[in-house]
Amino acid sequence: MTRMTLLSLALAACVAGGCKKKSDEGGATGTATGTAPATGAPPPVQRPSQGQLQAMPPLALPDDANRAGKVALGHALFFDKRLSVDGSRACYSCHMNENGTGGADPIAIGPGDKKLTRHSPVLWNLGHAKGAFYWDGRAPTLEAVAKGAWGGPNMAVGDDKLEAKAATIGKIKGYKPLFKAAFGDEAASAERVQQALAEYMRTIVCAETAYDKFAKGDKAALTEEQQRGLDVFLGKGQCSACHTPPHFSISMQVDGGVYFNAGVGTDKPEAEVDIARMKVTNNATDWAAFKVPSLRHVARSAPYFHDGSAATLTDAVAYMANGAKANKNLSALLAPKNLTEAEIADVVKFLESLDCAEKLEEPKLP
Ligand code: HEC
Ligand code: HEC
Repeated sequence: MTRMTLLSLALAACVAGGCKKKSDEGGATGTATGTAPATGAPPPVQRPSQGQLQAMPPLALPDDANRAGKVALGHALFFDKRLSVDGSRACYSCHMNENGTGGADPIAIGPGDKKLTRHSPVLWNLGHAKGAFYWDGRAPTLEAVAKGAWGGPNMAVGDDKLEAKAATIGKIKGYKPLFKAAFGDEAASAERVQQALAEYMRTIVCAETAYDKFAKGDKAALTEEQQRGLDVFLGKGQCSACHTPPHFSISMQVDGGVYFNAGVGTDKPEAEVDIARMKVTNNATDWAAFKVPSLRHVARSAPYFHDGSAATLTDAVAYMANGAKANKNLSALLAPKNLTEAEIADVVKFLESLDCAEKLEEPKLP
């Protein structure tokens, strides 16, 4: 907790100060003193949006001569309803383009119309995440998520039936060459299915946004309104302390993730509250603390929060800025920022600049 609090504070300070490195400060040229106004005139107003910004970096992956084969297999599997217990759902059913790769239902609904416990999150840039998946970070790898999603209630196959399901998939004629290209032979196994799904998910990238163009120097990429919104996001609103660029989630930038209690869903009897991270760590300071979701493509992924309780982006932003529900563990970083309606509207406009140009392509199924 201490480490992440410090990190957040350092980031918040970095945002306010324009993220200067020590080595950039002062120095032999002495510009700081050289440009200081002679009288007590106020220093020029610095707009955080005009400072140095980070665009999404490329994803570095270890060499794997069969990667393209694994991605092609995983791509097909991700879209294939035959992977679920009753043929009712593919992975894609709860992570569709139409919903920004998140879910349309506030709480996801699994096979047999069984209501799950949380909202489907978006899947962008998960290859960058550092060992923390799901809203509570309980899965350490994408392979583990693929197993959990497939065996658990999302696809409801059952952990003990994964090998049998993989064998059934492997018997489908069109899948044989896909397994061969991915793994060197046609044998289908649960582990191979999980590896292929994970490899495909690493290709779900969102890096082509107006924000990224702006960060790389195309100053026309954001409207004035969006630049004002970015000022609020980085400055007065302190959003970037947690939704840190370029991933727009500090949880994706720190080993093991970072979790905050944002008060969502805490206004009910304590026994019914989703304690989230505390279930993983058994640490009281993690009570009802969730991973910070990335805000890439967020304007396209309503509804919001782990329980889908915010129907619109404006509701979600207003909640984060001014209204986080008080509770015994609320993060101090969510103290009200008193943003005006106009400032909230500008932030929403800025968040629209995080729309991804990329989308998931529907493959031809084997
Ligand atoms: C019935 C809807 C549903 C289906 C089908 C489904 N998911 Fe999900 N997915 C969810 C929900 C809900 C969560 C969040 C669960 C949680 O955090 O406890 C989630 C979380 C995830 C995450 C974690 C994202 C993050 O930010 O850490 C990944 C990755 C993922 N799913 C991939 C898959 C894959 C792969 C499949 C197919 C094997 C799949 N999902 C099938 C609903 C679904
Ligand atoms: C203390 C860290 C923190 C700060 C500061 C913060 N957020 Fe969040 N944000 C979170 C967490 C944690 C969640 C997930 C909460 C949940 O679902 O229970 C979240 C969720 C969101 C969501 C919903 C995303 C989704 O996919 O469901 C939006 C939108 C959002 N925040 C915007 C903002 C804006 C705008 C600001 C600044 C005014 C801000 N946040 C400040 C931690 C933070």
